Amino acid sequence: MRSEHPKPERPQRDVDFSGPSRHGHATGEHSVTVSHGMKPMVPFRVCVLTLFPAMFPGPLGHSLAGRAQAEGRWSLETVDIRVDDAPFGGGPGMVLRADVVDAALQATRRPEIPFVYLTPRGQVLTQARIRALSERNGLVVLCGRFEGVDQRVLERHGAEELSIGDYVLSGGEPAAMVLVDAIIRLLPGVVGHAESLREESFERGLLEYPHYTRPQVWAGQAVPEVLISGHHQRVAAWRQAASEAITRERRPDLWIRYQEGRV
Ligand code: ADE
Repeated sequence: MRSEHPKPERPQRDVDFSGPSRHGHATGEHSVTVSHGMKPMVPFRVCVLTLFPAMFPGPLGHSLAGRAQAEGRWSLETVDIRVDDAPFGGGPGMVLRADVVDAALQATRRPEIPFVYLTPRGQVLTQARIRALSERNGLVVLCGRFEGVDQRVLERHGAEELSIGDYVLSGGEPAAMVLVDAIIRLLPGVVGHAESLREESFERGLLEYPHYTRPQVWAGQAVPEVLISGHHQRVAAWRQAASEAITRERRPDLWIRYQEGRV
């Protein structure tokens, strides 16, 4: 199945709707540009609402995600949301308008597809949440910029607010790329060795153990003896102990949850 499908073409579709103009000083026409994949049977549909559609696919067009897109395992649609306005109540920055975001959502959303708004104010993403999202049909992602998005449209569409970490980016687009990348690699057939997904960090509530390859001795340092013993049980025990030690040292929060069996 891998190379049977050519990379999907991404034609542009323009959807026009009326609404207040940028900064709300006049009314007029605003366009929503929708570009999307052509595969009729795309299993996982990603739709990104953004003020900067040219940022996409960006890194998602390369490596694992790019190959998976070319194979038709997922598709990407971007919607250009062009209008923001000054916040009621004053304060710096601009806010994405409810009517504009709503029109973009009406044009693209299907009820069975989760809708995520990326914001540093959201719940911090976990591998468990990523896995659950990867088991759906697709995802609509709204990227915040400026001060944010009018809260009413988030509530009306039941947005799940997610953050990729406790730091502030200049906008949600890099966060959307992180989110989508993490989901895509969990889609069936995307990562060649499904076993490596089970072993990796967070899957079992622990950070992953260290890896080694040739040369066996490098810069005066030898590979841990047990790894060349060929004894599978001893190797597994060593890896488990290494995972536990590294988690305890680096992520006491994860370690406590692991010990309590809350993973
Ligand atoms: N937008 C700005 N910072 C963000 C973050 N940490 N996570 C998600 N979206 C963001």
